[in-house]
Amino acid sequence: MALINENFLKLKAGYLFPEIARRVKAFTEAHPDQANRVIRCGIGDVTEPLPESCRKAMHEAIDELGTREHFRGYGPEQGYDFLRNAIAKRQFQDRGIEVSADEIFISDGSKCDTGNILDIFGNQNRIAITDPVYPVYVDTNVMAGNTGEADANGAFAGLLYLPCTPENGFVPAIPKEKVDLVYLCYPNNPTGATATKAQLQEWVDYALANDTTLLYDAAYEAYIQDPELPRSIFEIPGARRCAIEFRSFSKIAGFTGVRCAYIIIPKELEGRTTGGTRQLVHPLWSRRHSTKFNGASYPVQRGAAAIFTPQGEAEVTELIRHYMGNAALLRAACADVGLAVYGGENAPYVWVACPAGTDSWGMFDRMLTEANVVITPGSGFGAAGEGYFRISAFNSRANVEEVCRRIRQLLG
Ligand code: MLT
Repeated sequence: MALINENFLKLKAGYLFPEIARRVKAFTEAHPDQANRVIRCGIGDVTEPLPESCRKAMHEAIDELGTREHFRGYGPEQGYDFLRNAIAKRQFQDRGIEVSADEIFISDGSKCDTGNILDIFGNQNRIAITDPVYPVYVDTNVMAGNTGEADANGAFAGLLYLPCTPENGFVPAIPKEKVDLVYLCYPNNPTGATATKAQLQEWVDYALANDTTLLYDAAYEAYIQDPELPRSIFEIPGARRCAIEFRSFSKIAGFTGVRCAYIIIPKELEGRTTGGTRQLVHPLWSRRHSTKFNGASYPVQRGAAAIFTPQGEAEVTELIRHYMGNAALLRAACADVGLAVYGGENAPYVWVACPAGTDSWGMFDRMLTEANVVITPGSGFGAAGEGYFRISAFNSRANVEEVCRRIRQLLG
């Protein structure tokens, strides 16, 4: 009988979003009369149709594959040049940010990338994560054996938790101790907070002084409205020597089901061996990617590249405008009923303090059973998320208006 990876047994509950889906299913089965009334603002899954430019590019790519002349089999594992070049130019170089096409690795999702990145790091690293946090960072470290057991609050031994609270604007204080890896995500999931250039500069300075690698998740960068806020860690001087950035097409262009994302690993970024030898990280990821991945599909990469055409850019702008309009409505509804509201101004998530006396799962239950609205309990993102809930702005305008009406009715 094969030995199992016992680290999985440390994971107490199911992954957050399937757990929410399970509870919603149980509720709708028990109350079939309310099933059609349920509005889902839990998982941050996009609702608006794929941009026409992407669909057209994917149709054409499929048709190409149907001809002997243009058929393609395996593509380059790191991604096709047409997409890597378009990303490098439009997302970075045109904005004065130094990133070259061969530092970009195309994948089928940021969730996978943020988990898989641990393959190229050793298992004796001191790892810091923000709290609350996107659960993937924690769970994948547990699976990899980088933690001990969880305590009663769900905090895993061995991880350094960096509390993110209204007092620090949900941007954690720089640790007093030295850590090897730090996960940062801005605009933040789940709090919707953003970090300024000065705040990120402090992190970069800390990382350079301590040989720390920053794992910077910028999946929501397109939602930044304030031109002063950084969209990439690589806008910060020195970041090329200490950071990896994760980006995704999921939330920009409705690709949650289509699947396409990318990582940027600068060629000068170094790690070290246990013996103390410095080692470039880029070739390690390249080796990992080409061994374990055969590339995102050709039609999907064509669809993603279409986002960088003038039509695609206009369509993306419209999608972002739509979701940010939803976020503004949700913010206003929660504020109107007297709740403290955060985020939602440069991010598609609104982070709300629960009414006094109600905890996160209590609020989840109340919203589901009394308003038929699915939210995400803040405690599902970590101990510091207790007492909060997250509302996703990814929805149709009609649904968001109805959610606002029900919030006012329930809590007003
Ligand atoms: C979320 O709701 O936090 C996101 O949808 C999760 C994800 O992007 O994987």
